[in-house]
Amino acid sequence: MDFLLNDDQRAVQKLAFDFAQNEIAPYAREHDEEGKINWDALKKMGSLGLLGGPIPEEYGGAGFDYIAFGLICEEIERDETAFRVIQSVHVGLNSMSLLQWGTEEQKQKYLVPQARGEKLATFGLTEPGAGSDAGNVATTARKDGDHYILNGSKIWISLADVADHFLVFASLDRSKKHHGMAAFILERGMDGLTTGTIHGKLGVRAGNTGEIIMQDVRVPKANLVGEEGEGFAIAMSALDWGRFTVATGAVGLAQACLDASVKYCNERNAFGRPIGKFQLVQQMIAKMVEGIETSRLLCYRAGWMKNYGMKTTRETSLAKWHACNVAFESANDAIEIHGAYGYSSEYPPERYLRNSRGAVIYEGTREIHTVMQGEYALGYRQDKPYRCPPPPAVGYQRKDAHDPVSALHYPFPLPTNISGSATPTPGN
Ligand code: CAA
Repeated sequence: MDFLLNDDQRAVQKLAFDFAQNEIAPYAREHDEEGKINWDALKKMGSLGLLGGPIPEEYGGAGFDYIAFGLICEEIERDETAFRVIQSVHVGLNSMSLLQWGTEEQKQKYLVPQARGEKLATFGLTEPGAGSDAGNVATTARKDGDHYILNGSKIWISLADVADHFLVFASLDRSKKHHGMAAFILERGMDGLTTGTIHGKLGVRAGNTGEIIMQDVRVPKANLVGEEGEGFAIAMSALDWGRFTVATGAVGLAQACLDASVKYCNERNAFGRPIGKFQLVQQMIAKMVEGIETSRLLCYRAGWMKNYGMKTTRETSLAKWHACNVAFESANDAIEIHGAYGYSSEYPPERYLRNSRGAVIYEGTREIHTVMQGEYALGYRQDKPYRCPPPPAVGYQRKDAHDPVSALHYPFPLPTNISGSATPTPGN
């Protein structure tokens, strides 16, 4: 087992760190307070190749591996969540889905400009009546010659009001439930497509979140991604990418909480000593370290598996669930350590707390991930392979082995005469 980052990964980590330090950090507080998108930094992110990090160079990207992709998310969210959200929806949920499921024509037309940072893309799955129950979308798609006509609305969509391209999920036949879904590429400017911004969010105020409204939007057949009926599988595979970015970003946010807390512990005195000398403060610091390191290991394992083209729904869900809880708890403890100053925007922990809260909800709530993990362990949930498997990272070959270090695949299960049946039987 090799825990060392290679030279390429370290170079990408440094690139993302420097970018975040120079372009994001100086303006993060002001843009959060004003609810403003930092367009200059976004443009620079594109010119540095960070809007197409893991996309192969032949499709306009930088060809970084998925561990390096995770490092970008980590370093960026260390300074501001709104920028990691762009990695999640533009790169993870949208561009990676086109790379995995798109036709060559779709890749040339949509993925290439996205990866080059010329066009911004988002992902429309969630609806007013379908959040966790993602297979229950009410948006409809009706076939009409060489087109589909889409009607419905999407909500809580990051970048909705600023994106150029949209990967949207609709139902061709609601009686078939999730088996009736399909995925479509929409473009801003199509007749009947409008977007709006949601105001009054608790966190990620420096990023756009909004709605997509579709009224008889005519979408060419060439914009169907995958096959009819494959929409739910595409959405789930997209979330395998998106949740990875959320998890790795959460590691960065927790690291920022630790960095700020350690600094404050050594500056602030109480009862004649730096507050870091008090054991109850040390306990909070130690809890952050434990959470950050376990989250980072879960993320690296998922990234390593992704590099070899393995399906990582379980491992990514575990990383996302754990890391987002850790980030939220770390932000809460960072406020505690900063005392009354932690309650003020003069110090960053209050922004970290607000920004960490959403990630416990979006891309699968804490409750959805808890249930998924329970079901995997009990044998009630088994992953099916995707028709289009996840692409290995540039320069890597697909490996068949999966999840090499998990308790679920422990090589020496207890004998059945001690523990009962060692192999759980799936329920209904
Ligand atoms: N890969 C392949 N197939 C999968 C799959 C996966 N990861 N997950 C489920 N399936 C298949 C199942 O095998 C099953 O197939 P059959 O019907 O053929 O047997 C089918 O899909 C239904 O699966 P389940 O029975 O497991 O469905 P469920 O409803 O019990 O659970 C869920 C599904 C896990 C709850 C899923 O709906 C889910 O993850 N929900 C959360 C949605 C989510 O994360 N939304 C975030 C939106 S994006 C966002 O928030 C960001 C933004 O800003 C845009």
